[in-house]
Amino acid sequence: MSSGRGRAPGKLILCGEHAVVYGHPAIALPLELATDIELARCEGPTRLLGAEPDARLAEALRRALPERGFALTVASDVPIGRGMGSSAALSVALVRAQADLEGASLPHGAVVARALELEAVFHGRPSGVDVEVSARGEPIRFWRGPPARIEPLPLPAGALVALDSGAGADTAEMVAGVAERRPAVDRALDAIGALVQVCTDVLGDPEALGPLLTENHRLLCEVGVSTSRLDELVALACGAGALGAKLSGSGGGGVVLALARDPEPILRAAAHVGVQAWCCVSEDS
Ligand code: MEV
Repeated sequence: MSSGRGRAPGKLILCGEHAVVYGHPAIALPLELATDIELARCEGPTRLLGAEPDARLAEALRRALPERGFALTVASDVPIGRGMGSSAALSVALVRAQADLEGASLPHGAVVARALELEAVFHGRPSGVDVEVSARGEPIRFWRGPPARIEPLPLPAGALVALDSGAGADTAEMVAGVAERRPAVDRALDAIGALVQVCTDVLGDPEALGPLLTENHRLLCEVGVSTSRLDELVALACGAGALGAKLSGSGGGGVVLALARDPEPILRAAAHVGVQAWCCVSEDS
């Protein structure tokens, strides 16, 4: 075989981001948005076709592939820098494309281990939750390792709407900022960890889950990772009938996630003020 293909989805964190870095659980959901990679053997230096890689992607490719002999095509509809797992999806898709090219069938653990090495280029020392949910393609509760502990979960009932802040999020920077604010923020991180347990118990009950998500956002504000724009989007979604809303991912930018029985009023309210929003997880999908 002269080329190999790999595909992996993006993700959203329902609750528990940042606390998961310190051993607490987080709940993560795969998205339908995904990254596809085609990897082919070729003459000359290893290169990305159709785009100029930024510094981090170039470093990830350098780690993943020999200096010469490969051409790579990346097609992705996972928004970059929005806390939606674009680098994890890229890492998992690349590992899968390599395995496909070699005609190898990698066990899940090996996919995750290799993808984590690549994701570290983008995120410093990630907890691993993004790679794990992308590689599994199913909702999970995740505790960082080693060894990581993973529990498959059902999708939450209701619809989840993502509202784009329009600002990029740098996960490595945000995680480093939280580390600097410890131990002052440890109580908020512990409270987020406890909240994830309660959320797990009410995944099927949007009216109970919604306020817990809003509480998770308040705690993330205490941790120092929200912005006035993200707070405005939480208020916008709740004012339009969301049962609860929170930033999702590293904060500092990225998206707000709103839980609703009916996503339409939130989508309309967002469109009215020029905010890009889309329904990304729904029990009907
Ligand atoms: C990023 O999607 C989630 C964070 O908790 C970082 C991590 O878990 O590595 C902010």
